[in-house]
Amino acid sequence: MNPDGTGLMVFFGNQHPNVVMIDAKPIPGTRKVVASFSPGHGRTEHAGAIAIIDPDQGPDAKDMARTITKGHNYRDPYPLSENLFLVATNHAIELIDDLGNSTVLWSMPADWRTGRMCVHEPRPLAAREKEYVMALQRPPSMIEPFANVPDLIDFPRDIQPLLDKYCVACHDYDASPRGGPMSGGLIFSGDHGPMFSHSYYNLTISGQYIDGRNLRKSD
Ligand code: HEC
Repeated sequence: MNPDGTGLMVFFGNQHPNVVMIDAKPIPGTRKVVASFSPGHGRTEHAGAIAIIDPDQGPDAKDMARTITKGHNYRDPYPLSENLFLVATNHAIELIDDLGNSTVLWSMPADWRTGRMCVHEPRPLAAREKEYVMALQRPPSMIEPFANVPDLIDFPRDIQPLLDKYCVACHDYDASPRGGPMSGGLIFSGDHGPMFSHSYYNLTISGQYIDGRNLRKSD
């Protein structure tokens, strides 16, 4: 992508399924990047093999990605130079080189290794110059409506206020004199769940949308 946000294009790997390529960082002084290649749909916290990608042969040349670690338990590579990278493993920060040799720089004390605590995103603390980001050189533009295009119904803006007014008194988390909590097992608050608002999700699972075929059916 250009520094002004234009010209977005595939850098590498769009044709290569079964690996999640993530946490890519440019390697200073080169055109290469370092990234985590996490197998399958990705593992916990994107743990994967660390790979160096050279874009010179185009985005589909698989050979241009070279895996440098032996296992798949590394995450968040940070390039210090062309050959040296900081990486996190579950409980340690390691320094690896481009041949896969590794040195443990820091290891989590045993009594911290409870629950699911993991090490993340190692970074050097040395001060460095900030990248020049074009988008930050001026104030943000306000979003403006497209001219001559009819407005669309927007669920949070247009529907949720109706649910707030007529429904949440009984369909919310809390007990209410009118019948809550969760009358009929449904919540119509506008709070967000993992993907949608509770109201949108609950209206969907309770089959409250029509699809234009006179069916009480949601997708
Ligand atoms: C005064 C309290 C109250 C209000 C206000 C209310 N509901 Fe309900 N709602 C209930 C109760 C109680 C049930 C459970 C009825 C049952 O299980 O027989 C219910 C059940 C439902 C169901 C499940 C029905 C089914 O057939 O599965 C839907 C959908 C629903 N309500 C939607 C709404 C919507 C949308 C609004 C606002 C427009 C609303 N409700 C407002 C009390 C209320």
